[in-house]
Amino acid sequence: MAAVPAADIERRVLLIVSGGIAAYKALETVRLLRKAGVAVRCVLTRGGAQFVTALSLQALSEDKVYDDLWSLTDESEMGHIELSRQADLVVVAPASADILAKMTAGMADDLATTVLLATDKPVLVAPAMNVRMWEHAATQSNLETLVRRGVSVIGPNEGPMACGEYGPGRLVEPEALTAAVLRRLNAAPAASAGADRPLAGRRALVTSGPTHEPIDPVRYIANRSSGRQGHAIAAALAALGAEVTLVSGPTQLPDPAGVAVVRIETAAQMEAACRAALPADVAVCAAAVADWRVADRGAHKLKKRPGEPPPPLPLAENPDILMGLSAPGPSRPALVVGFAAETEKVAEHAAEKRARKGCDWILANDVSEGSGTFGGADNEITLITAEGAEPWPRQTKAQAAEALARRIADHFKAAARDAAE
Ligand code: C5P
Repeated sequence: MAAVPAADIERRVLLIVSGGIAAYKALETVRLLRKAGVAVRCVLTRGGAQFVTALSLQALSEDKVYDDLWSLTDESEMGHIELSRQADLVVVAPASADILAKMTAGMADDLATTVLLATDKPVLVAPAMNVRMWEHAATQSNLETLVRRGVSVIGPNEGPMACGEYGPGRLVEPEALTAAVLRRLNAAPAASAGADRPLAGRRALVTSGPTHEPIDPVRYIANRSSGRQGHAIAAALAALGAEVTLVSGPTQLPDPAGVAVVRIETAAQMEAACRAALPADVAVCAAAVADWRVADRGAHKLKKRPGEPPPPLPLAENPDILMGLSAPGPSRPALVVGFAAETEKVAEHAAEKRARKGCDWILANDVSEGSGTFGGADNEITLITAEGAEPWPRQTKAQAAEALARRIADHFKAAARDAAE
């Protein structure tokens, strides 16, 4: 899942589990966070306890579960104020319409709401409720107020609901929730946002590696991308202080330090993971996404039948993730960067690709035979922007990643200066 720097101090999450059928996903989220090295302490509301038990949360979090505002033992061991202050991040998942309303109103009639009113830590809520409750003006207005007060929100997702209806209201999946939590935890504290962390407070999305497109349960179509360049870019952006989500296809590479990694296999999964990682200030699409997938992937292994011709493999077009992220709209990152692997007329073809895909910058590299770019350690890049083409010297992929991260930091600095003038 996500990388946690080995020598990092332990990060702590206080997870409030409120009522709703989606509470079961909180269990898997606790497991994934523990796996990523995060300490998790749980508060279970009365509603939450209708769906999951304190015992399951306790076993997975390896910690006591708190559920009673008036428990004398809890108060003597740790008061609710203390509970709310000991975490680096307070997460409410699932966040019911009821708890969101109570948070908005500043109510404190149980342990969870008391903790939420008393905390001085960042709060992330993952709403989950019936689609009509979600769409109700009261819920939407509560959410708006909470966001204005600095509360982060992830989800809900759209899909079939336990109540039989369809629409937005499903709790985000545990993997996406875990990635969002890790992103928040890895965010540089404002105090350390010094000159060498120019991207502190910025969110970055990076895609990396190949995709695997299944033919049947055992075979797939892949490509030779190693993921080295994309992983190096994620690491370089994190080193400059950005909160980075790396959405990666299958690679042999270790997770870069301080980066939330979401592992996927197919282009469709990569697209969904990218959407879930928004909003972001910058997106860098370095993945070698397969252009096609097998249209009707079989549920069973295709059999070789003597005397019969090989099976036909009709293909369907995959989504273009870079183009999707570049499309104008409220969730478009301010800066979208793509790659262009070309074998001839590199700058010319890349400039054409920049216009066609609608992205801001293209890093064009020469992948012609003998260039050694695919899978190799070095890269020779030409940066294509609205201003023109800028050839960079041949350098290692790590150096190229650092150069790009610096360039991105400079871009945001200049944009902030322009906005201030
Ligand atoms: O069109 P082409 O594959 O050459 O474009 C390369 C760029 O587009 C890369 O940045 C790659 O990550 C991105 N891309 C994508 N989704 C696709 C195909 C390419 O994001 N389906």
